[in-house]
Amino acid sequence: MKILVAYATEHGSTREVAQKIGEALETKDLDVDVQDVRGVKDLSSYNAAIVGAPIIAFKFLEPAKEFVEGNKDALSKIPVAYFSLGMLMKRNTPFRRKLFMKWLKVVTEHVEPCDIGLFGGKTDKEDCRDWEKITAWAEGLAEKFGS
Ligand SMILES: Cc1cc2nc3c(=O)[nH]c(=O)nc-3n(C[C@H](O)[C@H](O)[C@H](O)COP(=O)(O)O)c2cc1C
Repeated sequence: MKILVAYATEHGSTREVAQKIGEALETKDLDVDVQDVRGVKDLSSYNAAIVGAPIIAFKFLEPAKEFVEGNKDALSKIPVAYFSLGMLMKRNTPFRRKLFMKWLKVVTEHVEPCDIGLFGGKTDKEDCRDWEKITAWAEGLAEKFGS
């Protein structure tokens, strides 16, 4: 089973999360490509996809939105999960989750996901990424994708 982990990033922290997700999936014997959304040319060889981006100024980062919009036909045929990072997620409350779900509408309205992972992000001052939570989420996805 071949899985695409596609990410958009402004400062690199989402790339590192995508790589961690890729490593977690590989431990479940999945064949994984981790790529910047702008480098993905052909989706036909993938059995599932995970698309991630940070929230920057209250928006899911544009290249990831464009990727989902532009590939919605291919993505609609396979299981898709989204993940997002933001400093607001350093506390995962119902109100904050609701806000993220609103910001992710730009992709969920095009392709319905089987799962959404919301994680704390990283700035120059603070790193709120919870690697255990990220790994656990990815491992759960491997089961959902039917490894
Ligand atoms: C200019 C700027 C705007 C941001 N706006 C938000 C925001 O609206 N909501 C939020 O939760 N986090 C916000 N963040 C935090 C980022 O989502 C977080 O730093 C993320 O890890 C950045 O991902 P990247 O390193 O992949 O670019 C912002 C960060 C920056 C630098």
